[in-house]
Amino acid sequence: MRTVWIVNGPNLGRLGTREPEIYGSETGDDIHKMLQERFPELELEWRQSDDEAELMSWIHDAVDSKTPVVFNPAAFSHYSYALRDACVLMQEAGVPLVEVHLSNPASRESFRRHSVISEVASGVIQGFGAESYALALSWIDRH
Ligand code: DQA
Repeated sequence: MRTVWIVNGPNLGRLGTREPEIYGSETGDDIHKMLQERFPELELEWRQSDDEAELMSWIHDAVDSKTPVVFNPAAFSHYSYALRDACVLMQEAGVPLVEVHLSNPASRESFRRHSVISEVASGVIQGFGAESYALALSWIDRH
């Protein structure tokens, strides 16, 4: 079975209670369960960290193991050149990495309008709540 990692950045461990009007009321576990039911042919591993270094090491591991990644870098999207550089390694290795966001950052505060990750992602899906992850997986599944 093909494995896909769903990697989530800072504050996404608070899904369910964090600004539910923006991010919805489902927890990370709820979303993981929903996705696994929708994609039984994939083995989905849900990961979350508030630590940039840990996220980077997971991207490095994904490069080495050629594991496709659905990546919600959260606030790091907007300024982490270190994570961007790690994502370039995915690009160079030809391993898919789809950037996702629950909300649509383009319609929010101005600092959210730019993602340094988007330039080096295979594609970006944003604004569809938990469905953003499902759309990303649907592309990876067929890729
Ligand atoms: C987010 C959008 C980011 O701007 C924000 O910092 C997050 C969540 C989203 O999924 O909508 O933490 O990545």
